[in-house]
Amino acid sequence: MNAVEIEQAISDLAIKEFDRHEFPFAFLQAFGNKETTLKRLRSGSSNKSDLGGVLQANNIHILVSDQGAVTQNLAKLKDSSATTKSKARFILATDGVDFEAEDIDTGETVACNYKDFPDHFGFFLPLAGISTVQQVRESSFDIRATSRLNRLYVELLKDNPEWGSAQRRPDMNHFMARLIFCFFAEDTEIFFKNGLFSDTVAQMSARDSSDTHVVISEIFRSMNTKRELRSAENTHRWADVFPYVNGGLFSGTTETPKFSKIARTYLLHIGSLDWTKINPDIFGSMIQAVTDEEERGSLGMHYTSVPNILKVLNPLFLDDLRNKLEEAGDNPRTLLNLRKRISRIRVFDPACGSGNFLVIAYKQMREIENTINERRGEEGRKSDIPLTNFRGIELRDFPAEVARLALIIAEYQCDLLYRGQKEAIQDFLPLAQDNWITCGNALRIDWLSVCPPTGATSALVANDMFEEHTNRGLIEFVNEGGETYLCGNPPYRGSKWQSDDQKRDLAQAWTKHPKLSKTTDYVTGWLAKFLDYADHEPSAVGAFVSTNSICQGQQAIEIWPAIFNRDCEIKFAHTSFNWANLASHNAGVTVVIVGVGKKSNSVKMLYQDELVKQCSQIGPYLVADSISYVEKSNEPIGQQSTMSFGNMPRDGGFLFLDSDSSRSLVNQDNTARKFIKRFIGSEELIKGKLRYCFWIEDADVQEALNIPLIAERLELVKNNRNQSDAESTRQYALKPHRFVQIAGYAKKFVIVIPRVSSENRPYLPVGLFQSDCVAGDSTFAIYDSPLWNLSLVASRLHWVWVGTVCSRMRSDFRYSNTLGWNTFPLPDLTEKNKADLTKCAEDILLARESHFPSTIADLYDPETMPMNLREAHERNDEVLERIYIGRRFRNDTERLEKLFDLYTEMVSAKGKNKPKAKK
Ligand SMILES: C[S@@+](CC[C@H](N)C(=O)[O-])C[C@H]1O[C@@H](n2cnc3c(N)ncnc32)[C@H](O)[C@@H]1O
Repeated sequence: MNAVEIEQAISDLAIKEFDRHEFPFAFLQAFGNKETTLKRLRSGSSNKSDLGGVLQANNIHILVSDQGAVTQNLAKLKDSSATTKSKARFILATDGVDFEAEDIDTGETVACNYKDFPDHFGFFLPLAGISTVQQVRESSFDIRATSRLNRLYVELLKDNPEWGSAQRRPDMNHFMARLIFCFFAEDTEIFFKNGLFSDTVAQMSARDSSDTHVVISEIFRSMNTKRELRSAENTHRWADVFPYVNGGLFSGTTETPKFSKIARTYLLHIGSLDWTKINPDIFGSMIQAVTDEEERGSLGMHYTSVPNILKVLNPLFLDDLRNKLEEAGDNPRTLLNLRKRISRIRVFDPACGSGNFLVIAYKQMREIENTINERRGEEGRKSDIPLTNFRGIELRDFPAEVARLALIIAEYQCDLLYRGQKEAIQDFLPLAQDNWITCGNALRIDWLSVCPPTGATSALVANDMFEEHTNRGLIEFVNEGGETYLCGNPPYRGSKWQSDDQKRDLAQAWTKHPKLSKTTDYVTGWLAKFLDYADHEPSAVGAFVSTNSICQGQQAIEIWPAIFNRDCEIKFAHTSFNWANLASHNAGVTVVIVGVGKKSNSVKMLYQDELVKQCSQIGPYLVADSISYVEKSNEPIGQQSTMSFGNMPRDGGFLFLDSDSSRSLVNQDNTARKFIKRFIGSEELIKGKLRYCFWIEDADVQEALNIPLIAERLELVKNNRNQSDAESTRQYALKPHRFVQIAGYAKKFVIVIPRVSSENRPYLPVGLFQSDCVAGDSTFAIYDSPLWNLSLVASRLHWVWVGTVCSRMRSDFRYSNTLGWNTFPLPDLTEKNKADLTKCAEDILLARESHFPSTIADLYDPETMPMNLREAHERNDEVLERIYIGRRFRNDTERLEKLFDLYTEMVSAKGKNKPKAKK
């Protein structure tokens, strides 16, 4: 169950009649416990309670009591020896009126009315194994609101199917945005009276819901009519209490979808939530899922966490502002200058979704501005930071609407926090008409028209929000002459997964480098547009989250020369990290953050996990002070042996046998033994599958054909190849006894490496096989070469190198002999080094043997890797790394830096395949 489903389940439980016997089980069920688990608890077999309650080991001890004993019972639960012995994390006491609970790990407590306990569902989420508790707990409100809005949305579409059509969908989205505004406004006194919107709907509309839409529509009409015009417009007296809001949000048609009774009830329920708790940064992303059918399954769980957004914004400009604030101390003049500077900063997110990057940037800047005001003795001063300096482009209309709404809410919340309720409300309405979030395709729009260079005005050319699609003309930048920072988290999309439209978008973005649009991820379009933008606004810096593939393998070689040659450089970067969100099915993608701008002498910052390194250059692979490009090499640059492709059968499967068929063939005719070899493909190597193939030398064909099964199979191979579209395959129909491409065959033994393997293993998979084995084309192979080659492949150093310079398939490693093996920088090995490494390779193989029949997949599971195997690898790394630097490397960053240094040195010394030191 995900957090939204849990919220729904416990909300349903709280409104049901309280059943003291059933409550503990229903509560556990709401957190995803299965019927069988509950059965065991009910029967008492797994119930460890010593107080007559329900105790689920490692989770929770629940005690339901008569009225009035809740506080005492919580104390009893705390003192219970069973609670301690069974390591219960939570204790919970209730009588159906009061509700108290404690998280024993953190000491946090909850005490509330029974009916309100769902408000604290984030507190209990560890019960469902959801560990990002802090984030979820902080956004409990947002999850609840999203879940309820979703229910309303679905219900409304049932009653008004035409509003779900592509044509009416924007109206529906607009209607939802208006509702969200009303819920927020009625709880924050923007509507002067708490609950005004919900109460008016409840009182003025019939209980059978027949006129709910009429009442809401009238309220909206009033909010779109200036007070002085209301009597002329005949607005109803009861709707007159609503202020004039407009700002585009309430202009245009007031048509409202019809409500069923259920929809009306949902609406009133949503109104009863406490909307002051809304987090505009998180809520916006969550709410997108309400109107997006594809995302609804993981409702609200795709939001980007604030710490991740700050990974972009802090190094982009916020850290600098904070440093300057620190330096300014209490100097009023310097503080004033800093405040002026802040008020002129423009933040532009050209894939802004519901505006979370912009909202966070705004809130952080307000915090800094407030500190300045405090130090200058000007607390409560009106902010100089204009919302219109936060610009965005978003493709979809609903997120674009929400983005603007989120910024408006953020402004109100900041005013409330730093200036007070009266001032916040006083300046809030009517909403400004300006529209500074553009709904459109960022790769087709000229960014200069949305966020023009300093000194110009901004013409918004694309679709508008909150209004019919008219051109809203020019919006002046308030506080002229500032800095511009671009940021965002654009869609990644590898080139294979791009739609035709997206391919065309990319071609348009990369007009100056057409080749790049064919091979690179969609996200690179934003880098391309940034390059054009920076030509007009050279002081702009852009930082985007991207898949790490743009800094790996072939893409890195293609993209970065284009960027560096446009006089740009990497100002800062975060090396690969997991961009996780809360969607239960989504493990997150591995991303990097790169901040790009025109070249300068500034210090560059390279962030890795919690560490930051200062350097003078950051290279295409995000390595400090190394701007080498690693290009394919047809032969090893060091002493390592030649690595070939595996062998390609292209046989329709007819040259292959499973174990049983192979055994029975040999039982029938022992001469067949000579023609059967064990086949090693990637699956066979990693998962230990047994598969066999016919391997017949040209000279032995006649002999093989005497065996009826082989003759039959070769006929099938021939037919299969004859039917191929590829001329090269058809040619091999004449030689059905052999594989189409034979890259090698071992006389003694072969080292085999899969082409694709999971990045989760701490070492690359590699195996050693005897000469009766054939390496398939899903592998690479090193034939009859010294065993120390295996030690290199199995080392952490090689893992790090391949992970960086080779491309990836999704996040998996895609091994390459020309890009990963031949380029692997290996210091000259002495005979002693070779002997030591050979011993290490043998030890690794022996350690694996000791766990026979475990497969590589079993043995290299990072959670369960056997100790002796881990130690063998550690020794291997120790020996190899000492050859490089006389000690172990401290971390992967140090490994990579050394490898790049050595690579540069080795290829320059060879004078070929010279890394281009482009700057
Ligand atoms: C990964 S989301 C990031 C949004 C937001 N920053 C967040 O973290 O939730 C990417 C956003 O880009 C929008 N998008 C996709 N293609 C676009 C395009 N060509 N132009 C503008 N926006 C686009 C998507 O609709 C989506 O809202």
